[in-house]
Amino acid sequence: MFLYITNIYKYYTKKSEPFQGYKMKGWFFIMNEKVKDLLQQQVNKELYSAYLYLDMSNFYTSSSLDGFAHWFKLQAQEEFDHAMLISQYLQNSDIDVVLDAIDAPNASYDDFKKPLTMALDHEKYVTSLINDIYSEALANKDYRTGQFLDWFIAEQAEEEATAQDLIARFELFGDDSKGLYMLDKELGARVYETPSLEL
Ligand code: FEO
Repeated sequence: MFLYITNIYKYYTKKSEPFQGYKMKGWFFIMNEKVKDLLQQQVNKELYSAYLYLDMSNFYTSSSLDGFAHWFKLQAQEEFDHAMLISQYLQNSDIDVVLDAIDAPNASYDDFKKPLTMALDHEKYVTSLINDIYSEALANKDYRTGQFLDWFIAEQAEEEATAQDLIARFELFGDDSKGLYMLDKELGARVYETPSLEL
């Protein structure tokens, strides 16, 4: 405690800068501007992910593959929850959440496999975004945000693996109508699980 108070004193008297990018205002944590901007943008990216997966769900619904449609609708719900978690983290840090316009998915699906490969590519992209925020947080000694993002790092690994697995199963069974029917049934049984992270 003594060391902590001494560091704050040094910070305010400018004798040294113990908190690079991790400033204190009184007793409160102030997030680095770049980290804050990236987290704000990530809320929009997660909402876009929800929008994209809803679009894929609609494609499968119009193709009478209701199990695939159900699976992607739950995926959209999961992405919405990711956006809510980041919003909550910002609000817990006394930062207002500013919502931006969500881009249209603007995707065309040539066949039943296309949304699956697009989903994997999209998850890889999201992983890169999370990694960028993580790097920025650590560069600014914002270990609090780093710890928060640990959950998202693990979640992205899981999402990429799931997307990859879906493609593999489609390649095994998707060409055969009976196999496609069974896969559709299986995906239709997916049950939504709320994110394990609590804030
Ligand atoms: Fe929120 Fe699928 O990444």
